[in-house]
Amino acid sequence: MLELKNLYFTVQEDDAVGGKSRNIIDGIDFNFQDGKFYAITGPNGSGKTTLAKLIMGVNPVSKGVLLFNGQDISSWTITERARLGIAYSFQQPARFKGITFRDLLTIATGIEDENKLLEILGRVGICPLSFLDKEVDAKLSGGEIKKIELAITIAANPKLAIYDEPDTGIDLWTIGPMVSLLKKELASNRTTTVVVSHNRAFLEAADEILIIHSGKIAYSGNLEGAMPLLDDLSVCTYRDSCEGDRDAGCYR
Ligand SMILES: Nc1ncnc2c1ncn2[C@@H]1O[C@H](COP(=O)(O)OP(=O)(O)O)[C@@H](O)[C@H]1O
Ligand SMILES: [Mg+2]
Repeated sequence: MLELKNLYFTVQEDDAVGGKSRNIIDGIDFNFQDGKFYAITGPNGSGKTTLAKLIMGVNPVSKGVLLFNGQDISSWTITERARLGIAYSFQQPARFKGITFRDLLTIATGIEDENKLLEILGRVGICPLSFLDKEVDAKLSGGEIKKIELAITIAANPKLAIYDEPDTGIDLWTIGPMVSLLKKELASNRTTTVVVSHNRAFLEAADEILIIHSGKIAYSGNLEGAMPLLDDLSVCTYRDSCEGDRDAGCYR
């Protein structure tokens, strides 16, 4: 459904560090298939967020093509891509003073009816009454804001949903239900789902894993095949201090 063809994102580095051009996404070719669950992983700084932003149109494509069901969307705006059915859940969601969760949900879905909004919240499994009129501002915890972001993405009923590290700041006991929720959305709405994560639960849930390294796809395939490379690339950067992360499902 989404085809990446020889995709590049190139930046000009500051003169202080040489002033050379650098390919942050370096010639990626990949075909995301309809109704599949993908996990993207790879070391910090390898280009995962940049790739997600290229798909959503937050970053402009420097070279190459993005085809959505055969249509070239490479130069489309974020809004046009959202209308097409692409949704993106930010790694660091924005916070808005004076704007409530209800406002954001209404903007995302066009729905104002309170019962329908509560129904959506029930569907994504967050406490509707305590959240609906909360301001999406700096007072929310990192985990709360990620849950809100997830709910808004799901409520938009996308055809393709990209979640950038949805588990960051989320309590451990929420991660299992979060995986089940995304799987359920995929099964009921055929939402092609792409999750950027280092978490074992997402890697295990995926139909296919992509490992990004230095802006290229270093691997695509099943978890078993990914394991040796994950270990080699040390997805958890601080190997020696990773012991305690085992419970958090972090690969070593
Ligand atoms: N617009 C930009 N200009 C310059 N450097 C960038 C830009 N966007 C990302 N980078 C750099 O590209 C690398 C990959 O970033 P990112 O995609 O956020 O990595 P991650 O895999 O951790 O999500 C990082 O070194 C980051 O600093
Ligand atoms: Mg990132």
